[in-house]
Amino acid sequence: MATPLRVLLAFDMVYAVKPDHDYAEEFADRNNHETEIDVYQALKDNGYEVKRLGVYKDVRPLLDAIDEFKPDVIFNLMDTFREVTGFDKNVAALLELLDVPHTGANSAALFLCNDKGLSRKILRFHRVRGPRFHTFYRNHKVWLPKTLKLPCIVKPLTEEASRGISQASIVDDEKGFIERVAMIQQRMGLDVIVEEYIDGRELYVSIIGDARLRVLPAREMTFGQMSEDEPRIATYKAKWDDAYRGKWGIKNDFANKLEPELERRVIDTCKRAYRALNIKSYARFDLRVTAAGVVHVIEPNVNPNIAASDELAQSAAKVGITYPTLIRMIVRQALRPKEPVKVRAKKSAAAVA
Ligand SMILES: Nc1ncnc2c1ncn2[C@@H]1O[C@H](COP(=O)(O)OP(=O)(O)O)[C@@H](O)[C@H]1O
Ligand SMILES: [Mg+2]
Repeated sequence: MATPLRVLLAFDMVYAVKPDHDYAEEFADRNNHETEIDVYQALKDNGYEVKRLGVYKDVRPLLDAIDEFKPDVIFNLMDTFREVTGFDKNVAALLELLDVPHTGANSAALFLCNDKGLSRKILRFHRVRGPRFHTFYRNHKVWLPKTLKLPCIVKPLTEEASRGISQASIVDDEKGFIERVAMIQQRMGLDVIVEEYIDGRELYVSIIGDARLRVLPAREMTFGQMSEDEPRIATYKAKWDDAYRGKWGIKNDFANKLEPELERRVIDTCKRAYRALNIKSYARFDLRVTAAGVVHVIEPNVNPNIAASDELAQSAAKVGITYPTLIRMIVRQALRPKEPVKVRAKKSAAAVA
């Protein structure tokens, strides 16, 4: 029998553990480790030899595990390092330096997509629609730009999972605008992006692939009994607070069949965004579609959540890709031959002289 593939399942934690930690406690806690639990099981179902590694704020355990376990591939679930969201790109960059294959996005795609302003600028260059926006970095003057039409939504520039997003994020006058920007800058300590508010349906479209892209069936967040005058957005509570979702009937389910022309435009928009950002792994696009059928990319998510209950896995299951198969596809994707890294030949001092 062929020797099984060795997979190091690396995930972020908010505390450090000893090298011989058994993760029994963490892997019994679905509330905090749902994705790790699902992916670990799926990797085992595929017959791989799997080692788990939780990383907090020291890279040495990661280096040691690579040295000792000698993984063929790292399944990268590290969304943060030292609890910093944007350090996922640094972890990927480190793995690239070490020349160890890893699943998911490369450091370049993580870098581009972590910054909602930067990714939007690239998408706009490629004529992918998105709301007009303005970025406000900390310690600079804040004003209401004439180029923006109210109402707007004020968000952290580089956060995820709707952290910092509530109904109060929608502002419809200058005072509220400036106060909310100040709140995120000062209380959260983050740079800010303000975007025009796009009223409409909220769709989530996942794509997997590199040369050939597979666009999966759209999911949609619906806002149940929430009043039409309220902004219908995926706030932190709408995403994560089950009692709140239950109270308002907020649901995340498959989108009803889109009208063919709209479906074509949604698919075309997401594929173009995926290519424009040079994503080569898997991603989920958060979209808003106006009543007139204009498709806006609100956010490109590389390395989106991939627990079995998350959008990407649900959409994959809808087209017959079981969860273990999805995880295998992601592993294989990481192992496919890469474009060679160009090594520049060093000229000797004599050749230069
Ligand atoms: N410009 C916008 N217009 C309308 N709704 C928005 C806009 N930007 C964000 N939202 C709402 O806020 C949610 C979270 O915003 P998003 O940019 O995706 O941040 P996160 O990275 O936290 O998911 C979106 O899913 C959407 O419901
Ligand atoms: Mg989002």
